[in-house]
Amino acid sequence: MRSADPILVTGGAGFIGANFLNLSVPRFPGRTFINVDRLTYAANLASLASIDKRPTYALERVDIAEREAVDALFARAKPGLVVHFAAESHVDRSILEPGEFVRSNIVGTYNLLEAFRKHCAGLPGALFHHVSTDEVYGSLGASGFFTETTPYAPSSPYSASKASSDHLVRAYAHTYGLPVKITNCSNNYGPYQFPEKLIPLMIANALERKPLPVYGQGLNVRDWLYVEDHCEAIWAVIERGKLGETYNVGGHNEQKNVDVVHRICEIVAELTRAPKEELLGLITYVKDRPGHDLRYAIDPTKIMNECGWQPKETFETGLRRTVQWYLDNTEWVEGVKSGAYKKWLEQNYGARG
Ligand code: NAD
Ligand code: TYD
Repeated sequence: MRSADPILVTGGAGFIGANFLNLSVPRFPGRTFINVDRLTYAANLASLASIDKRPTYALERVDIAEREAVDALFARAKPGLVVHFAAESHVDRSILEPGEFVRSNIVGTYNLLEAFRKHCAGLPGALFHHVSTDEVYGSLGASGFFTETTPYAPSSPYSASKASSDHLVRAYAHTYGLPVKITNCSNNYGPYQFPEKLIPLMIANALERKPLPVYGQGLNVRDWLYVEDHCEAIWAVIERGKLGETYNVGGHNEQKNVDVVHRICEIVAELTRAPKEELLGLITYVKDRPGHDLRYAIDPTKIMNECGWQPKETFETGLRRTVQWYLDNTEWVEGVKSGAYKKWLEQNYGARG
């Protein structure tokens, strides 16, 4: 892309988008970044405090499901690069409220593709980078890995909406020749993650001595990647990946949920000098998630070979950094938990959260 063209990041006030902007804005001081975010419950502008005063950063509060607002923004800004994170992202919410997922994840992606096709696709070096998940591939049994050719078999309304958005992105490349790339990443963890997802929820609850709700028997497996490694993978694909291609992103960090929760208890106990047994005693086995995928595991050979990407953090080093971050940023967690999320939790789960 031409260096004068702005970089438009959707969902930049969410977990991964904020980490991406915090890393990218200082790294490319000559580029302009526009953060397009509706500021849902999952957004937090405090996550962007390190960059939000920079002259090369701007926030546009726009709902990507609003076609005219998206079109007007693209007509004005004409971004050369779009990095599309914005989505409803939590499986449990998608089971309770699937309509929001169809709206933001499918209609929102369609609106962005239309606006990009109309206003940006002709710009030299233009690129639409779509950020997606490994959950589009469905569930694995005890063995095997997801590769880029694994057939799509999404199980939850969340993963079905992301699968649909991936198909739209590929269809726009195939039909209209749009310059696109897609990354499908495994479960992320790290700073600024909303404490409804497994790792930050367990850290926050352990610190407050609240129950640690493990679904079913805790034997489901997720393949964890530290969020900065994901952000670097996105840049590796933007800079060195092939147009029209999909790259799976993961760091071979498969863990059973119950083992993750145990390790969090151990690290929290060590860092806060609390008795480990007290924290382990908070583990509570609760009713399983409906349609709960058993196992996700990524084969990252393609991105490693073609883009030269390697994760920097192991699960052990990444988890330690994450627990330390939540210990150092209790105000951020309190700010998040005292707002709309708290009301939603009470309505849907009673006092459990
Ligand atoms: P998040 O829920 O923390 O943040 C999502 C952001 O998108 C929020 O700032 C929210 O306000 C914004 N948003 C939602 N709907 C919007 C709309 N209609 N218009 C404008 N903005 C809207 O999500 P996350 O965990 O940072 O995930 C970001 C992306 O990465 C998603 O596309 C997700 O599918 C994908 N992904 C996430 C993970 C993970 O483990 N979190 C793994 C792989 C891929
Ligand atoms: P989550 O962080 O919601 O990510 P995803 O569903 O997208 O993989 O959940 C990760 C795993 O942890 C998943 O197997 C469900 C499980 N889980 C619990 O056992 N308890 C919880 O309170 C949550 C939120 C998740």
